[in-house]
Amino acid sequence: MVNATSSGLSFGPIPLPPSANPKYFKDFGRKVEGFDPAQMTEEQKEEIIDMLYKHSVLLFKNLKVTPEQQYEITHAFDPAANTYGHGNNKTGSTKSSILHPDLKTIPRQPQVQLIGNGKVPGEYEGLESPQLKHPHHKTFHKSPVSQEDEDKGITRFYRWHIDAALYNLSPPKVTSLWAVKVPKGSEQICRYDDGTGDELPVPLGTTAFVSGKNMFDVLSPELQSLAVRTKVRYAPHPYVWMSKAHALPTGLGIENEGLEMDLEELPEWEESKIKTFPVCWKNPVTGGLHVQVHPCGAHQLLIDPLPSSASKENALYPQGAHITDLTTVRETLYKLQRPGISPELVYPQDWDEGDLVLFHNRGLLHSVVGAFTEEQLRMFHQCNLAASEDPVGPDDEDVRKYA
Ligand SMILES: [Fe+2]
Repeated sequence: MVNATSSGLSFGPIPLPPSANPKYFKDFGRKVEGFDPAQMTEEQKEEIIDMLYKHSVLLFKNLKVTPEQQYEITHAFDPAANTYGHGNNKTGSTKSSILHPDLKTIPRQPQVQLIGNGKVPGEYEGLESPQLKHPHHKTFHKSPVSQEDEDKGITRFYRWHIDAALYNLSPPKVTSLWAVKVPKGSEQICRYDDGTGDELPVPLGTTAFVSGKNMFDVLSPELQSLAVRTKVRYAPHPYVWMSKAHALPTGLGIENEGLEMDLEELPEWEESKIKTFPVCWKNPVTGGLHVQVHPCGAHQLLIDPLPSSASKENALYPQGAHITDLTTVRETLYKLQRPGISPELVYPQDWDEGDLVLFHNRGLLHSVVGAFTEEQLRMFHQCNLAASEDPVGPDDEDVRKYA
């Protein structure tokens, strides 16, 4: 069903693959028609913002979007924000960050990054023949799939994440991705390889999305109680801290090998810039709770005790806790997050050239998937802005309801 509104936009369902269970996608994802980025009105911007918070992913087809227009629609979500989500200046102290090689900044609109794969021929948006590299899971996962399996089309989720610096800067509210060049190729099988036998057929080079609200809703009452009482303290300069570490085969966190850098070895950092965020982030429009944790950067957990009104039966950490043991931190987060990435809960975006996707970066997790050959040219424009305020966690009523 497509509903036209007074602003001239229509909102219909997004195309779900057979692997997705429709019961989890009633509110997730909308395809938008009638949008022309060269003529966007204030009314349309307001409607897009409202619909994004309600539906997490908005998909626009067949668009031509300039970097200025992409910045404009992204900026509309947070008019007080204006620097890229990881900061506009990615040279100097953060050079060893694992994100550095994946981004090429478009000089005249530095909040917009060119990402993708392959060597762009000639000059492009002020960049001289930029060389792009699609992240490959073998550079990050402890035990990658074998070459033999990769040749058969087996792949992995690279890294489930929120687009966020997780240090000093606040997580962007929205990320926009505009597909310029999309190489076509065979479907791949994304394998979880965590002993469950889970796997998911995916279009080549998909971006996989899972709803943080579903991630909360599918938890047992005991884990929901833990989720609303827990905060995650991230490591200082988390992408440098984890730069030698390896990921789990699901891409949902880090193996416990002791490879994180010592805090003394990191580039200079300040206590006051360390980020501590609730596990659940409250949706500013629907009031829903979304499990929003970037598991790779998590360093410690701070768990509040149960409120006096809550039943202690089966409760986890009823007295509260401050967990500093990394293995326990990771195991606890994995219990809260792994159910939410099961195959039937994943929306794999099947990219076409001209697609613009806006996603609620504070309401979902996403992952790069798949592998390209060197010759396959893929080009996307990505924009997000370090937010003007930190996300808000559960309120008193949420704690009463779930703790
Ligand atoms: Fe991302």
